[in-house]
Amino acid sequence: MTAAPKRGAALAARRTNLESTLSTIRSRTFQMTDALTDNDLHRQFNSLMSPIVWDMGHIANFEEYWLLRELDGRPAHDPDLDVLYNPFDNPRWVRADLPILDRHEAAAYLDNVRADAVDVLRDTDLDPDAPLLANGYVWSMVAQHEAQHQETVLQALDLRDDLAPYVIATQERLPRRTAAVDETARVTIPGGAFMLGTSDRTHAYDNERPSHTTDVATFTIDKFPVTVRRYDEFVRAGGYERQELWTADGWEWVSEQGHTTPQGWIPDLDGGWLVRRFGHVVSLDPTEPVEHVSFHEAEAFARYLGARLPTEAEWEKAAGWDPTTETSRTYPWGETPPTTDHANLGHVRWGPAPVGSYPRGASAYGVEQLLGDGYEWTTSFFERYPGYTMFPYPEYSEVFFGEDYRVLRGASWATSKRVARTTFRNWDYPIRRQIFAGIRLAWDV
Ligand code: AVJ
Ligand code: FE
Repeated sequence: MTAAPKRGAALAARRTNLESTLSTIRSRTFQMTDALTDNDLHRQFNSLMSPIVWDMGHIANFEEYWLLRELDGRPAHDPDLDVLYNPFDNPRWVRADLPILDRHEAAAYLDNVRADAVDVLRDTDLDPDAPLLANGYVWSMVAQHEAQHQETVLQALDLRDDLAPYVIATQERLPRRTAAVDETARVTIPGGAFMLGTSDRTHAYDNERPSHTTDVATFTIDKFPVTVRRYDEFVRAGGYERQELWTADGWEWVSEQGHTTPQGWIPDLDGGWLVRRFGHVVSLDPTEPVEHVSFHEAEAFARYLGARLPTEAEWEKAAGWDPTTETSRTYPWGETPPTTDHANLGHVRWGPAPVGSYPRGASAYGVEQLLGDGYEWTTSFFERYPGYTMFPYPEYSEVFFGEDYRVLRGASWATSKRVARTTFRNWDYPIRRQIFAGIRLAWDV
């Protein structure tokens, strides 16, 4: 008869933990949005992105749907909001013209939904037989959703060239590399079977499941993400004008767009580069990972060096597989949740960190900075894993499967530590570069 009180204590602890995760993430949402003027919040400054106040209402609407209506059968707060904040009914480029909530209304909607959601959480059993409730899955999903929208908001803000300096938090004291490293160091990953994906039902999205055996041939991969210095050689060698380095689609895109550098680069007088970040123009550190490149740029750069991009299976083997125990790690370094010693996550630093800054974040094979800094493009299309089952709704992953999207792996400096893991799969169109994404090269052996 000791099982019941024990389970009661575990349940209470898990509820407290979920409540505090939700509230930590929410504080950051308000910290980010409170720092913006009404105009910056309501205006759509790039057709790729939503007005930021749309993200606020959408975060509340998503939480209302899952935590109040699905879990507690409550009626819709306002059925019109379901239409306004449905991303499929309203693509990003129309969102500025919708009669969406203003910042005060959106903040009140967020607050009201959250107050009720906390009541529901305190009253709901995390029934281990109900996949939505077991281990608090649906609350974790809602928390991750909000954190992912914070990253989207940061992408939107980083596209602006007329933004008043935007710094919402003092930079924490973060580890910086103390000694120079060989930026072009490589690691060889032995071929053979390993487990790709996860069967976790606590945090993982449906597209990460199930864990399954797969095989890769022996390959070599960069120990560090590609730095600004390495990418700059490609820029200076005329990489953007050499058609032979680009695929047909890539060449069409780059010619049409007229890009000659990654997003935000500005030539400095001394021959180096400045970069525009959140309305600041700062000098670009040649030792930091390059970010804001498209898949096409990543591929052309790889071809310039006689290399290629990794597949997502190769990436995950290098990041998550422990060949000694023959198990997959949640983080490259093991199971310890990320700290500022392991990885550059959670928007505490406003850009990627120099390569060599996170030796403690190395994978079992000794590959570094796989989580944090920037997502990394892979050659893989976003496809379902064998044995995939949709859960809990098709619009997270299923509607995106196919050859329109390429998979990105890892996490960026703007990704929450609650989203970063070795099995996480991100995706975007190959032409997109507003995401905080860079490059890691691979070679056949
Ligand atoms: C996984 C980043 C591609 O932003 O479209 C947010 C995350 N899904 N709301 C996206 C997401 C639903 C998604 N990505
Ligand atoms: Fe969303």
